[in-house]
Amino acid sequence: MPPLAGRSAADIVRLMAAFRGGTQPATVMDRIAKGFSEAETEAIAAWYAGQK
Ligand code: HEM
Repeated sequence: MPPLAGRSAADIVRLMAAFRGGTQPATVMDRIAKGFSEAETEAIAAWYAGQK
């Protein structure tokens, strides 16, 4: 898997939305993504984007 650290927050939010909507192929991430609200997803994405 490509690392999440340093990816743009917008990219991570887009992927999580695609997992939730079923358009991104997944084994587990479709189910994991559904557990987070929009605000939580944005907070998580901002945190990963800030990592080196
Ligand atoms: C805050 C929690 C998490 C976030 C934000 C997150 C985010 C992501 C993202 C953005 C991808 C897509 C990467 C890409 O295609 O470039 C991904 C894929 C994946 N993640 Fe997560 N993830 C989280 C938790 C987890 C956990 C807990 C597991 C395993 C138990 C997991 C397993 C996977 C797997 C296996 C994939 C490949 C797609 C799939 O088979 O579903 N992730 N994740």
